[in-house]
Amino acid sequence: MEDQINKLWEEVKKYFSGDTGHGLEHTQRVYKLCEHIGNKENADMEIVLPAAILHDIARKEQDDSKGKIDHASRGAELAREILKKLGLEDDKIEKIAHCIEAHRFRKELIPQSLEAKIIYDADKLDSIGSIGIARTFYFAASLGAIVHNKDIDVENTKEYSKDDCAYREFLVKLRYIKNKIITNEAKKLAEERHNFMVEFFDRLNKEVEGEL
Ligand SMILES: [Fe+2]
Ligand SMILES: [Fe+2]
Repeated sequence: MEDQINKLWEEVKKYFSGDTGHGLEHTQRVYKLCEHIGNKENADMEIVLPAAILHDIARKEQDDSKGKIDHASRGAELAREILKKLGLEDDKIEKIAHCIEAHRFRKELIPQSLEAKIIYDADKLDSIGSIGIARTFYFAASLGAIVHNKDIDVENTKEYSKDDCAYREFLVKLRYIKNKIITNEAKKLAEERHNFMVEFFDRLNKEVEGEL
C-alpha cells in the first residue's frame, strides 16, 4: 500500500497551485488526522488514506468555475480515473469515491461508511483549533479585513467582504463546527480544538481592551 500512497501523492501535486487554505497543505493535514482517527476507529485504511489524498483534487476546478463545478462530485470522478490507472479493484474505487463525493455533506449525499465519516470529520477538524484560527486570519487578510473587530455586527455584515474578519468567521461558523462531527475519536479532538478557540478569542477580546 505504501507504494500506492506515494504514487497518489505524486499524482495529486499537479491539481494544486499555492495554498489558499485549501491547498496541498490542507490535504496533508487531513491525511494525518485520518491516520490518527482511522486507526482509533478501526477503519479500513486502504480506503481512508487514498480518499484523504484525493478528497480536494477538484477544488481548483471549483474555484476556477466560480463554484459552478462541485469539487466533491468532480473530485470523485477524477479519483475514479486515477485509481483505475493505478489498477485498484472496482469495489475499492467505489468506496473511495463515496468518501470524496460525501465529504461536503449535502442532504442528498451524506457520508454512509465509517471511512466517509472519517474523511468528513478530518476535513472539518482542519477548520477549527489553532490551525482553524490561523487559516481564518490568513483568509481574512486576503479579503483585506482588519485584524480584529470585537464588536463586529454579524447580521449587518457580509461574508467574503472586508468586514469578514477572523472573529466574524468564528462567531458565524467555527464555533458550531464541533457539533457536526460524527465519529467518537474526532469528537474528542473537536472538543479540545473548540475550547482552545473559545479561549483564544476570549483572550483576544480582553487584550484589545487592554485588560490583559
Ligand atoms: Fe473539500
Ligand atoms: Fe478538504
